[in-house]
Amino acid sequence: MEPHWSSVSKLERLLKLGNLVEDALEKYLLIDADPEFREAVLYPVRSGGKRLRPALTIASSIAVGGRVEDALPAAAAVELAHNYSLIFDDIIDHSEVRRGQPTLWKKYGITTAILVAVHYRESISQAIGDTRDPKRFEAIMARTLKLLVEGERLDVLFEQAGRLDEPYVVENRRRAVTVNDYLDMVYKKTGALIETSCVFGALSGGAAEDAVRALGEYGRNLGLAFQIGDDIIDIFGREEKTGKKVGKDVEEHKLGNIVVLLALEELAGREKEELLGILRSERVSPEQVRRAVELISSTRARERAEEMRRLYSANAVKAIELLPENEGKEMLRDLAGFVSFREF
Ligand code: IPE
Ligand code: IPE
Ligand code: MG
Ligand code: MG
Ligand code: MG
Repeated sequence: MEPHWSSVSKLERLLKLGNLVEDALEKYLLIDADPEFREAVLYPVRSGGKRLRPALTIASSIAVGGRVEDALPAAAAVELAHNYSLIFDDIIDHSEVRRGQPTLWKKYGITTAILVAVHYRESISQAIGDTRDPKRFEAIMARTLKLLVEGERLDVLFEQAGRLDEPYVVENRRRAVTVNDYLDMVYKKTGALIETSCVFGALSGGAAEDAVRALGEYGRNLGLAFQIGDDIIDIFGREEKTGKKVGKDVEEHKLGNIVVLLALEELAGREKEELLGILRSERVSPEQVRRAVELISSTRARERAEEMRRLYSANAVKAIELLPENEGKEMLRDLAGFVSFREF
């Protein structure tokens, strides 16, 4: 069932767009980095990653008639912001594996990971200094990162157990979460940066305001589709493909995973209590994760989540209908196709 996609080589070419930022990433990260610190600082960007966000920035810039070179500082800024968020997300989520390798904190320890994260935040500003309107780009980035922080805060408060040594979380935890609460949280933690990736591309290419707005709406919808896909592959994916531990959201007691949420909506009686009971266990065993996936699989949650991600991807494509046909717009349509069925 892959309606929009047939050619893998085309996909590879598209994601390679994002690889145009490799030199810029290292350039900004190495400014003011002590030689002894360089290895740790470069570890996140050298450990892989799809580079979806810089691909979106570059494609958005081309879509409005801009040149690739003009979009590179902004494209580097959004990929640095993404890696910055992953450094602290992996500490928050107790994740030990990402991109098939140990996470930064797992490899270097929490102290070094925190310092590398602060270094990334400053590298983002240094990249933004080379954009065509640093003041405007910096204001957008600051807002985006504050939204991301708020999304992470909500995601943690939607957890159903754990963090007994964190009174703020224990006291403010949500017992019930609706699909609207979920969409609000996901827009903040993931959608806002994907929206900004597109807006940065549009602004780098000198777009008119209506094109900036259209690309922002494309990015917002694509961001929701992207995180829904991330939630699906967390439960049903394969570690060889995702590079992340499968089932970690259940292990981390997360109600802020759309598949878990939709399954709980459908289950009733003893089975609903059982799934909630697993999420609310202080320590979730591998056997409980397996049972949770079994319970989820007895519902239509997976199908409904897949439907939602296709819907948001389709809304993303609709949002850019008004843009003139060109290579950039075609790339954006293809990237939306990828997001609507990706398994990694
Ligand atoms: C993972 O993002 C974090 C989410 C926002 C879901 P990606 O899946 O884009 O991570 P990489 O950069 O390709 O590893
Ligand atoms: C998205 O959420 C993370 C960020 C906004 C950084 P997840 O916690 O689901 O991302 P993964 O699954 O660890 O990549
Ligand atoms: Mg995580
Ligand atoms: Mg997380
Ligand atoms: Mg995830």
